[in-house]
Amino acid sequence: MLKKPYTKYDQLYVYSLDRGALPAFNDPDLIGIWIEDESPILFFHRPKDELVAELCRKTGAEIVYQADLNYQDWEAGVQITAFATKYLAVRPLWEDTVPVDSCCQQIVLDPSVIFGSGFHATTRLCLETLETLILESGERIRSVLDLGTGTGLLAIAAARLGVERVTALDNNPLAVSVAKRNVELNGCGQQVEVYGYDVQDGLPDMQYDLVITNLYKRLLLQLFKNQKFWQPRLHMVSGFIPGMEPDLLAALPTDRVRMVHRARREQWRLWLLQKKENGTD
Ligand SMILES: C[S@@+](CC[C@H](N)C(=O)[O-])C[C@H]1O[C@@H](n2cnc3c(N)ncnc32)[C@H](O)[C@@H]1O
Repeated sequence: MLKKPYTKYDQLYVYSLDRGALPAFNDPDLIGIWIEDESPILFFHRPKDELVAELCRKTGAEIVYQADLNYQDWEAGVQITAFATKYLAVRPLWEDTVPVDSCCQQIVLDPSVIFGSGFHATTRLCLETLETLILESGERIRSVLDLGTGTGLLAIAAARLGVERVTALDNNPLAVSVAKRNVELNGCGQQVEVYGYDVQDGLPDMQYDLVITNLYKRLLLQLFKNQKFWQPRLHMVSGFIPGMEPDLLAALPTDRVRMVHRARREQWRLWLLQKKENGTD
């Protein structure tokens, strides 16, 4: 996350270690620590060879991968800048203006090094479907569960569009910190709660009108098998490409849910699923 004196991301210095449990340390150039398969990946604004070597000496860890890269390269070559959808205007923390008229709901975001800047096709598909669903479809959406929230953008968007209760979960501690910070930046802490949670450990309370899952195929298949997952009235599912659709379609409990909307952007897909009226809980 951005901390003073930093106001934007420029060059990233990344160190991936082979094991976890780092001692607490405070470094002014630290962006954050991402935990992947219980191993830490450290992101800094400046080179930190000595600090990381010292952490390795203390813990017995080794550096398995080290890279310096430009923020734009980290973000898949995309420049993170302000953008607008039909009802939302999103700007990164380092920009003052948004390219929209004032009727749009505004969101400010520190995307950090976490998925969910709004520039990936799946996030954009989810944002656009979310706003249409909430503002145009006539569906009453009072509560949303965002499973795998990343930066928290979709959860914040749901709150901005008027959803009263939003829960945002992620198993990456850095995503949780970034999403919490973004909720705070947007002043929507009354509506949005963010927790660290791994959905592979079981599902949380599922009493929501809409569940958003922009996740990877293996995890989606695991969720589809769980009856509890289908408790909510609506499911927005993304994170897959056409080649993955047959397996995902085959795993849908068609006695319980029907497809009500399908969307595409670049090679990515999104489905909106609705519980059948006679579908069981
Ligand atoms: C593709 S990103 C989507 C982020 C955001 N919802 C969006 O649409 O931009 C998937 C997110 O799910 C999180 N995630 C992956 N596996 C998870 C798990 N088992 N439990 C909870 N979150 C998980 C990742 O850390 C990541 O932030």
